[in-house]
Parts: sequence; structure tokens; C-alpha cells
Amino acid sequence: MPEPGRGLSIRRFAAMLFRAAPRATVVSVVLMVIVALTEGISLLLLVPLLALAGVTTGVSAPQSGIVGRVTALLPHSLGLLLLVYVVVVASRAALEFAETVASVTVQTEVTRSLRERLYRALIGARWETVAPLRGARLAHVFTTELERVSLTTHEMLSGALQLLIALIYAGAAVAISPGLALVAAGGAVILLLPARRQQRQARRDGDVLTVLGAELFVGATEEVATLKMAKSAGIASRVADRFSKRGRVHARALIMAHARYRAAAAFLTAGAAAALAVVVWVAVERIHLAPASLLILLFVCARLVPRITAVQGSFLITARALPAAEAVQALLDDLEGAAERAERPTSAPLEVRKSVELREVTYQYPGAVAPALRGVSVSIPAGRVTAVVGSSGAGKSTLADVLLLLLTPAQGGLFVDDTPVGDELRDAWRASIGYVPQETHLFHDSVRENVRWVAPEATDDDVLEALRMAGASALLARLPRGLDTLIGDRGTLLSGGERQRLALARALLRRPRLLVLDEATSALDPESERAIRHTIASLTPAVTVLTITHRLTTARQADHVVVLDHGSLVASGAWEALVQLEDSRLASLWAAQLGADDDPVPQSTARSS
Ligand SMILES: Nc1ncnc2c1ncn2[C@@H]1O[C@H](COP(=O)(O)OP(=O)(O)OP(=O)(O)O)[C@@H](O)[C@H]1O
Ligand SMILES: [Mg+2]
Repeated sequence: MPEPGRGLSIRRFAAMLFRAAPRATVVSVVLMVIVALTEGISLLLLVPLLALAGVTTGVSAPQSGIVGRVTALLPHSLGLLLLVYVVVVASRAALEFAETVASVTVQTEVTRSLRERLYRALIGARWETVAPLRGARLAHVFTTELERVSLTTHEMLSGALQLLIALIYAGAAVAISPGLALVAAGGAVILLLPARRQQRQARRDGDVLTVLGAELFVGATEEVATLKMAKSAGIASRVADRFSKRGRVHARALIMAHARYRAAAAFLTAGAAAALAVVVWVAVERIHLAPASLLILLFVCARLVPRITAVQGSFLITARALPAAEAVQALLDDLEGAAERAERPTSAPLEVRKSVELREVTYQYPGAVAPALRGVSVSIPAGRVTAVVGSSGAGKSTLADVLLLLLTPAQGGLFVDDTPVGDELRDAWRASIGYVPQETHLFHDSVRENVRWVAPEATDDDVLEALRMAGASALLARLPRGLDTLIGDRGTLLSGGERQRLALARALLRRPRLLVLDEATSALDPESERAIRHTIASLTPAVTVLTITHRLTTARQADHVVVLDHGSLVASGAWEALVQLEDSRLASLWAAQLGADDDPVPQSTARSS
């Protein structure tokens, strides 16, 4: 068992399986018991068979225990008896088939339902909890770790079946000779003494394999994502060496874990042979057991030993794979613990008639030393363009996330036309917003599907109109297959500016009431940027626009400017008024941007060599 208070025990894992697939688990267990019983029945049939063949077993007299009672019930003609035997074996084969299907169903259902539960928990969790998770680590849990859970399920179920059958054989051994069964049980106890230590070792192996497997997977994923950087920096072969090294370390750990598991099995098999030798010696030399009974006893033991080895093997593999189930369970607990109210998919958008306001908003990221926003009050007038400016890390994107209700501030809140927008109005509010995040994401799909992603019901005409407004008409004309052109993983077949245009078209397609642009035009050339600025300005007053930008030329054209600095609001109002204020933050940002080109070159780097 794992150390107390840490990890999952096999028992808790079994409960987890039952919860994931209750019906299939019950069916599987019931079928297992029946299969094990038929195994017992076919064993008992051996006794009258041998008796009919003229071999005395010493246990076939009526009323002598369970064997005798069962024998009394059975037909006494060889033909009939053989027929019963064939029927029993055939029905067992059919049952075994049904049982295998049931356990495969459990195995598949458990993995499927856990995967679905994880996914729903991920989608339904608050953004603060999801944001810090690493994508590659998540992908690893969703694929490799869930595969290991599936393997554990299989091993646990087959281990349980083997255990049931082993118990039936043990029962048969007791029926044949209780004394001998006791001797055999003593042997089994001695053989199973190291089982606990072996299980602890298997768990440790599982922990190591979990860590190394994750490193291998996450490392490979990140290395593929950064291939271009590695090649351009001339470190590709070093990265490849690192990859190989991780692979070797993982392979070695895997071999060691497997070797230990096989060693345990070998020890058990050898020990069982010794125990069997002792039992036979006692049976022949001391008890003088009847030959037929000895025959059955040998038969029982010969079938019992591999079952015990199989139970032990399943037990160890289960222990080794438990850390994967723990990783899945821990992630589930975290995500389900951070669930937000379920989304209602069809909410009518909220109208913005007067203003969108953040009042006295303070937000601190979990684990951060200082708040990213401190008591910020911002009013975004309806139907106008508001620009948010401020240096890197000032809290601009955080402000957008609070506005989108992705982050829940510790204090303060969001008001639309003076109505507080909380959990209840969340979906309606999100349906009102078109958002272009600072780091946009495009899919390896057609231009059409990328733009339509937020509004799947949109027609081609809608898509074309959105692309036109986003200044992407010329781009579309250049693409070989127009709307059907595939744009590569994350849009890699497009330029940075082209990607931004598609992202903008995607946001515009929703016909939002509020358009939030976080550095949405940062990769565009000044001319295209100006054109898009004009398009966006022309959307007003039907649309309220909030544009976060480092380009003060954009801010200058806005109706309203908000200046953030170190998480605090330092000014808001019309550009002209703010920039003329003496010592104002906006004036210094503006001066820095204007003067950026004629900065004096520092002496140390100006010296020619
Ligand atoms: N998920 C996070 N966890 C912890 N701290 C964060 C997180 N995201 C942002 N921060 C911190 O919060 C502060 C504000 O970040 P924010 O992204 O809002 O800045 P910004 O004004 O948008 O900057 P930029 O102009 O560089 O995009 C920064 O100090 C940043 O390091
Ligand atoms: Mg930002």
C-alpha cells in the first residue's frame, strides 16, 4: 500500500473504476464469479470421471464433503458424464467470452469517461486555474497517462478473475485433503512474504516512470514547437542529444522496472515448485494418499501456481501504474474544485447603451507578490473607441481578462449601464464581446473554418464581409484556394500580420457589442494598421471598442484614453488633455516613442572595432 495520506490505494483505484463505469464493472464482476465457479465445477467433474474409470479417489463416497455431495448429484453413466463435462466447458468458454467483452468494456469506458470528465472539468474550470497548466503536460495526461490507467484497469480485472479461480482451486485442494491444503497454504504464505516490499518497489518504479515519461513527452512536444528557434540558433544537434539522453534514461528505468517484476515472478514460480515438492512428498510418504486423489491434487496445484503468479503480476503492474491514475485524479480534483457555473450555450447578448465600467477592481494572480490591478476604475463610453496604454506589465491584458469575466477580482466588479455583471449575466456578456487576444490561436484548417470558429452558423458572405473589414480581402485573393486554403499549424503558413487579420475577422464576425483588441494590430505595417483603425472607427457607434496598444499613434486617434502604470490607473480622458498635462505618464510615453528613433547610441557600443 502507498504511504498513508499519499496517493491512491488499489482499493481507492477500484472505487474510481466503479464510479467511472458502474454498470460494466458490476456485469464484469458477476461474470467473473460465474466463470470461476464453472472452473470449479469442471474440476469437480474429474472426481466421478476418475471413479467411473475405475480409479478410487477416496473422496467420492456420498456425503464425504462437498465433492461427495456434488458427485451424488451427477449422472453415473460415462456417456452422460462426458456430455455434462463438454456442456460445462463449452458454457465456460462462452462465459469467458462474455466476461472478456465486459472487462474490455470497463477498460474502455473507464478511459473514455475519465477523459471526458477531465475535458469537461478543464473547460468548466476558472481561468486562473487553467492558465498556469502546461499544454504539453495536459496532453501527456490526456494520452499516455490515461493509457496507463487503461492498462491498470485491465490488469486489475484480470488479476481479480485469476484470484477468484485460484480461490476455487484452493477450495478444491481443501476438499481433497485439508491437511495437505494447510501445508500448501503455509508454503504460499512464505512465498508471498516479499509481496509488500515488491509492491512498494513497483510503486516507486511507477513514480519514476511517470516523471521520466512526462519529461520525455513534454520535452518532445516543446522541442517540436521550438524547432525553428533551435535550428536558427545552431543548437539543433544539442537539442537532439538531450532528447536521446532522456529516451535512454526512460528506457533504462523501464527495463529495470520490468526486470524487477519478472524477478518477482521467477522467485514465486521457483518457490512454488519447492512447495509443491514438499506437498507431494508428504502426500506420498506420510499420508499415503490414494493415487487418484494425488492425481487431482497435482492437477489442482499445477493449475493453481500459474494463477497465483498471474495474480501477483497483475498486482505489481497495478501498483506500478497507480501514479498515472493519481496524476489523472489530482488534475481532476484541481479542475473540478475550480469549477465555475456551467455555461448556457444560447444567451442573448447584452446591449451596451451607456458605458462599460470597471469599478475599484483589485486583482492579484495566485502566487504573485503584488496585485496586477489595484483599485482600478475605468469607464468605457458606449459607441466610442477607448485605448488602453501603459508599459509592459502595467496590467492591460489583466484588465481585458477581468472585463471578459475570465478573472474574478478580489474586490470591485464589472458594470454595464450601471448594472453589475456577475455570474448570472456572464454568458450573455461573453456573447456580446468580440475579443482578439494578445496571443491569438489559429488552427490547421481552412481560412473559412478559422474565421467561423466563434460563429459556426455564419455564411460564406458573412465570412467574406468580416475578412474585408479586417483588411484581409487582398490576402484572400492571393491564397491559392481562397476560403478553402489550409493555413498550417497555428497559422504558420501565413505572415504574422496576416494571422492578426484573420483573428480580427474572427472577432468581427460575431457582430459584437464590445470589441476588445489586445495588441491586435501590433504586427501590421503602419499603412494596414491605419486602414484597420479606420474600419474599426467606422464600426462605432454600433460597437463599443476597447483597444489595448503600445502604438500611441493608435491611442491618439481614440476618443478616450486610459493610462495604466504598475497596476494602477494614472489617467483617463481625451488624448489632447492628457498629453498636455505636465509630467504625465502619457506625455513621457509619447516622448519616448517619438524620440525612440533618435536615441543617442551608448558610448560603449558606438566604438568601432
Ligand atoms: N498568469 C499569471 N500569473 C502571475 N502573474 C501574471 C500572470 N499573468 C500576468 N502576470 C503578471 O501581471 C502583471 C500584469 O500583466 P499583464 O499581462 O496584464 O501586462 P500587460 O500590461 O498586458 O503587459 P504587455 O504590454 O507586456 O502585454 C505582470 O507583472 C505580469 O507579470
Ligand atoms: Mg498584455
